[in-house]
Amino acid sequence: MISQELNQLKNQETITKDALAKLLTATGDLQQELFATAREIRENYHGDKVMLRGVIELSSYCEKNCNYCAMRASNKNLERYRIEDAKTILDVVAEIKSLGIPVVFLQSGQDRHIIYNEVIAQVIPEIKKQGLKVLLCVGERPKKIYQKWFDLGADSYILKFETSSPEFYQQIAYTPLAKRIDCINTLQEIGFKVGTGNIVGLPGQDFDTLLEDILLAIKIKPNFVSSSPFIPNQNTPYERERAGDLNLTLNTMAIYRIALKNCLIPSVSALEKIQKDGQLMGLNTGANVITINFTPDKLRHQYRIYSEKRFVVKLEHALDIIHRAGLEIEKSISFHEERFSVKN
Ligand code: 5AD
Repeated sequence: MISQELNQLKNQETITKDALAKLLTATGDLQQELFATAREIRENYHGDKVMLRGVIELSSYCEKNCNYCAMRASNKNLERYRIEDAKTILDVVAEIKSLGIPVVFLQSGQDRHIIYNEVIAQVIPEIKKQGLKVLLCVGERPKKIYQKWFDLGADSYILKFETSSPEFYQQIAYTPLAKRIDCINTLQEIGFKVGTGNIVGLPGQDFDTLLEDILLAIKIKPNFVSSSPFIPNQNTPYERERAGDLNLTLNTMAIYRIALKNCLIPSVSALEKIQKDGQLMGLNTGANVITINFTPDKLRHQYRIYSEKRFVVKLEHALDIIHRAGLEIEKSISFHEERFSVKN
């Protein structure tokens, strides 16, 4: 029998914080029911298809100083890099295309170096010419830059709110949450498909904030939404803190799926980092996107969002967990599965 709280969420009735708290902390039978409901909604809205994205991490320079992230400006132990030539990027794009992956995901720290802005502007139309989608995740930027990238053909943009508490965000990221939310609104007004989401288990985060995170994500009405467990990064003030809780993250993902129905939801690599098969668990809570890392090897070790030993999601791993979840790859172009040895 489906619980009353789940029904409220599913039918998009106003849900009280108490009911949400019950779902967020679900264990045992209730948790299984939560996950099953999330999978059923994924099936209804997306079938059994998982969307792949190929990410290229373009720059590890960042002007922000977020306590949780190793790319923070004051981390002097990080060797920085910036890909400044379009050709290096376009060579990787060709590889992504040859594998039949339909989305090129360009990610970096908040790096407003003029050359970097120009490189992004240069590659967007080139990637679009290849028939691929362009997804950006490069931080809080002025409206005119967002507009320029949109006009050049960029399709979508990820800017996670990280946490819904203005006081808490200010404490851990040293800039106003309101500015970030303004950027999210601007991106939506411009016409981008927008992704957002939260981090679960940031040091000092209280439980009520996690409930507010879910309500904020619902209010934003994003096209993509994600929840990631906090990973303690080396060379940050939080390097000795505990990682975020797996179950709270999985439950948040399932709640997002049930409340936001047709959203794309990634099963993020941080899940795998805290638990073997964590990303498979993510797929089993209703996620339908996996990001595959295509950052050139010689740069990758310098890009440390999570930690030095960050789990790099490879195509083979993605195919393996997609099969094990009983799902299939969305083959927008031709997906050359035979190029990979899939053990299952
Ligand atoms: N743990 C979990 N997620 C993190 N991110 C950055 N650092 C961490 C961390 N230590 C996430 C943020 C950011 C995205 C690119 O990576 O949510 O928006």
